Amino acid sequence: MFAKETYIRRRERLKKDVGTGILLFLGNNEVGMNYEDNTYHFRQDSSFLYFFGLDYAGLAAVIDIDEDREVVFGNDLTIDDIVWQGTQPTLKEKSEVVGVHSTLPLGDLAGYLSRAAAKGQRIHFLPPYRGDHKIWLNELLGVKPQEQKAAASVDFVKAVVAQRNHKDAEELAAIEKAVDISTRMHLEAYRLAKPGVREATVAAAVERIASDEGIGLSFPTIATVQGQILHNHGYVHTLEEGQIFLLDAGAECSEHYAGDLSSAFPVSEKFTERQEFIYNLHLASFQAAVDTLALGVPFRNAHIAAAAKIVEGMKEIGLMKGNAQDAAESGAYAIFFPCGLGHMMGLDVHDMENLGEQYVGYPEGVAKSTQFGFKSLRLARPLEEGFVFTVEPGIYFMPELIDKWHAEKKFTEFINYDKIEDWKGFTGLRNELDYVMTKDGARLLGTVKKPMSIEEIYAAKNA
Ligand code: GLY
Ligand code: MN
Repeated sequence: MFAKETYIRRRERLKKDVGTGILLFLGNNEVGMNYEDNTYHFRQDSSFLYFFGLDYAGLAAVIDIDEDREVVFGNDLTIDDIVWQGTQPTLKEKSEVVGVHSTLPLGDLAGYLSRAAAKGQRIHFLPPYRGDHKIWLNELLGVKPQEQKAAASVDFVKAVVAQRNHKDAEELAAIEKAVDISTRMHLEAYRLAKPGVREATVAAAVERIASDEGIGLSFPTIATVQGQILHNHGYVHTLEEGQIFLLDAGAECSEHYAGDLSSAFPVSEKFTERQEFIYNLHLASFQAAVDTLALGVPFRNAHIAAAAKIVEGMKEIGLMKGNAQDAAESGAYAIFFPCGLGHMMGLDVHDMENLGEQYVGYPEGVAKSTQFGFKSLRLARPLEEGFVFTVEPGIYFMPELIDKWHAEKKFTEFINYDKIEDWKGFTGLRNELDYVMTKDGARLLGTVKKPMSIEEIYAAKNA
């Protein structure tokens, strides 16, 4: 948690940016996994955390811009709560810590909002992503769950994004802490992932570091020899000679900021010749993307630069043909790189994805594409000071995608399907690093660098 003044400053700016009405914040609740009292790990809503800092279940808050009033709604613990979960500060005490002086019982929220609505005040709410919030919003405002996304306040969303997209020094320090824990997770995997070791063993070892050092994970770990499956959350394989191991894992630090790194390396001592070619091609695409990063330059340019470099390499081995830049712009590259180059990162690993990538990652007036490949580019906008984002190009041979495109004769001017047949079992690889945009250029986050070059990988495997 940061100092009280941080939260006061953020709320003051939010009031100015939205201008009028009531801003409604729903904090997250405990959610039962298989029965009510056996709960998932509690995670507070990130916008609630950003503006109110209170890391407790069962809260809501209102900023009444018109009346210049801030109220936290919640209930003090009953003796039963205390007996089972231990005690907590009172709601009043918790709220004072973040500079809010008015508190009311949670049950008073509905009345507060209906009185505001009767006075003609607009009630702004953010798009909900949890089922219980959808029901709660329906009870509070009478908006049906299926209509809530469309009825959410775009002004509120844009004002939240405008602040959260720019990380200040204290946020950067927290993110760097999360990145450092994440790097340690990856270094453990480089040492551990060997023939005969199970994916589950590597996943458990890297997750232990996150639990020991921070809050835990910033997203479910990907630890796999089937790296072509982008979000592969199964850990069912035992590692074998000749495979590529892919780890995509990150920690959430105690302030709840995320780290997000990926690594790919041989299970054997060394890459095969084919693997070495693709790995180095991927490193070249990574560098092409990083070379493009600059203030005011759209991140889409970095994505295209990475894609064009991949196409160039694929031409060298006969898998693609034609002009590399055209193949990148057309979307043909997506046969090997079907996702985006990166995403914003902060309190959420994909920061504010719940508020809409259109607002977070795209400039006003530029619509996110719906084309396969480009539709997964979460960040495209010109880079501004304080943006924190990932760079994570990858090269994937996804047999089902190759077969589908082949059958549909997609991009036959750029893709040599007959040549790709021989590569379909390659699997996939990526690296991922985290950056902050500064006025002097993109700065790599983390005080210890994750291995990237083949020499660095081999050294880390034997460390
Ligand atoms: N680290 C998971 C992702 O970026 O999608
Ligand atoms: Mn990522």
